[in-house]
Amino acid sequence: MKRILSGIQPTSHMHLGNYLGAVRNWAAMQNEPGFECLYMIADLHAITMPYEVGSLVPATRELAAALIAAGIDPKKSAIFVQSTVAAHSELMWLLATLAQFGKLERMTQFKEKGGKNAERVGLGLFAYPVLMAADILLYKATHVPIGEDQKQHLELARDLASTFNTRYGKNIFPQPEPVFRGEATRVMSLRDGTQKMSKSAESDNSRINLTDNADTIANKIKKAKTDPEPLPGEAAGLEGRPEAKNLVTIYAALAGKSVADVMKEFGGKQFSVFKPELADLAVAKLAPMTKKMADLMKYPDQIDVILKAGNERANQIADKTLSEVRKIMGFWN
Ligand code: TRP
Repeated sequence: MKRILSGIQPTSHMHLGNYLGAVRNWAAMQNEPGFECLYMIADLHAITMPYEVGSLVPATRELAAALIAAGIDPKKSAIFVQSTVAAHSELMWLLATLAQFGKLERMTQFKEKGGKNAERVGLGLFAYPVLMAADILLYKATHVPIGEDQKQHLELARDLASTFNTRYGKNIFPQPEPVFRGEATRVMSLRDGTQKMSKSAESDNSRINLTDNADTIANKIKKAKTDPEPLPGEAAGLEGRPEAKNLVTIYAALAGKSVADVMKEFGGKQFSVFKPELADLAVAKLAPMTKKMADLMKYPDQIDVILKAGNERANQIADKTLSEVRKIMGFWN
């Protein structure tokens, strides 16, 4: 049995980077025969950074709506809320006893989010990748579709799976494989092509949210930072031009074309020609999604019913794994 698990944090609106970098692949994978798909709203991860208490529930509901609007079909996949499955926290502790301080300390995301004041960083932020490993191993996931930025965390999950199997002499956890697909696994900020498109960047013009309407989407693309040169005829000409590269990458991903093909089409053209084309394409692809999302948000009770079913399915699998783990580790049963 192959099982897919992935997660996304309910920190704010889902944006184009989440969609093209991860969620689009989640939707594609649910149609592959022989796979069970579980998609998780990672609210336990969301509290590793300062957050507003009242924001989690609405953000969770909105994210569920965004996932469904982006093509995740609750009839085929379970969408669930991490914190409703207590086993995540428990397995995290059990795995934490095998996780090495040195490895956690080297995690790029930890270094970035932790900032300079190491003394004040919370244990949650430090242990974040261990919780993520628990998320994955609890479901014995075999495939984990993620964006490039989560690669190092997945590596740790693989490491903990084999460390656990070796330490306790049982082959309980399969090695989870990362899944990367598509041309635009890394979507960058529209204001600075060297920074990832992110929920936390200050300027809302730096990202396209799945809650943006058609006008906003088009405007953000027209305002996107570029350089004065026309587009090159080949992909290699994009090196050293992060903003140009980003817009072309987004175009390719939305059009389902390769970057090379896009370069053939637009090589030699100015951004004043390319940007309106990109804006039209983005609106055509995203507007139906934002509309569907807005429609779903009108009936929050229905979203809750979907999450409830997902939470039940997740708990069912998680309980089973956790009791196996407890037994293997020699706990009182
Ligand atoms: N850390 C991931 C992110 O911020 C979200 C996540 C949490 C996740 N648990 C996961 C992704 C398990 C894949 C598998 O993008």
